[in-house]
Amino acid sequence: MSVRRLAEEQFQPANFAFNEENAAWAEATIRKYPEGRQQSAVIPLLMRAQEQEGWVTRATIEHVAAKLDMAYIRVMEVATFYTQFQLKPIGTRAHIQVCGTTPCMLRGAEELIKVCRNKIHHDPLQPNADGTLSWEEVECQGACVNAPMVIIFKDAYEDLTPERLEEIIDAFEAGKGAEIKTGPQIDRHLSAPIGGAVTLNDEIKPVRTNLEPQPEPVADAASVPPADAAHPKDTAPETDPKLKTPVTAPKAAEANAKATEDKPAAEASKAEAAVDVAKAAPVVKSEKPSLEDKNRPKGIEKPETVDDLKLISGVGPKIEGTLHELGIYTFAQVASWQKAECEWVDGYLNFKGRIDRDDWIKQAEALAKGGEAEYIKIFGKKPR
Ligand code: FES
Repeated sequence: MSVRRLAEEQFQPANFAFNEENAAWAEATIRKYPEGRQQSAVIPLLMRAQEQEGWVTRATIEHVAAKLDMAYIRVMEVATFYTQFQLKPIGTRAHIQVCGTTPCMLRGAEELIKVCRNKIHHDPLQPNADGTLSWEEVECQGACVNAPMVIIFKDAYEDLTPERLEEIIDAFEAGKGAEIKTGPQIDRHLSAPIGGAVTLNDEIKPVRTNLEPQPEPVADAASVPPADAAHPKDTAPETDPKLKTPVTAPKAAEANAKATEDKPAAEASKAEAAVDVAKAAPVVKSEKPSLEDKNRPKGIEKPETVDDLKLISGVGPKIEGTLHELGIYTFAQVASWQKAECEWVDGYLNFKGRIDRDDWIKQAEALAKGGEAEYIKIFGKKPR
């Protein structure tokens, strides 16, 4: 963070006053705030003064402080804190604020600064020979997703290359800055993925397929669960306990990747993906193992005391219900599962390896052995 001081005395005008229009605007703005809260207008007033004068002078700060009945130092603190306020004369046609914070730096901010040094002035906050352009490095401007970027007055110019920044600077120098499109300078809508929001389409597609009721495949009668077995829609995990977000999106991405990895590139196009929902569903469904499979974990009659399986990270109420339908009621049962049984349950729940990733077996062993206390001893935290 640079040290921000007021301009040297020789630059400071003796006084400041809003012009007629801005004075009326300032009065109206101050009236927007409740009685006793007029100081909240300090930023709008300083900004308006900057727009009128080109930068914030000492006299401006004194004027705003008097108008809002604030101590001079309080207004000074605001003016020197925000890099939106210019404390010395800057370029009259453009002042380029180059974000130099980590994401922008990693994406080429240093090259942008070189452009500014070459085209404007070697040093920041020094206007060029004509006084039309200046530049400075600033901290993150909140558009990291489209790094690197610059701010020129109130607009952001994102996804920049050195060449594009040169063009933008030339346009402002020629007085044609208003013709330059603001925001991303490449084929990107706002902060959406480059080339379009295909990711959302791809992710949502299989999720919807899995969650919606599917027609039972007629030819696969052996794998049709009995009436008391869980419906596939009930087996979808509700939330990822670690991420606290619906796990359906990552699942979808995984399912989609699987469904499309063997297809020719042309088939992976957006249009093809949109009509491929129906195809994707049976692929996922056919992986569901049969209830008659030898690797299905042995179920038991519901015991008098049922363990709270939801203490296992990754088991929510729906999954617990499904496990109960399979005759799984205790931590000890889960802890006894061998690899093949884990894979059967994983497939039945359409988990794609999550049982292993969440380490259900180790969790269940700890809970079976000593409840929450043992769990905390092993994992260093309370279950769930
Ligand atoms: S790091 Fe440059 S906008 Fe955030």
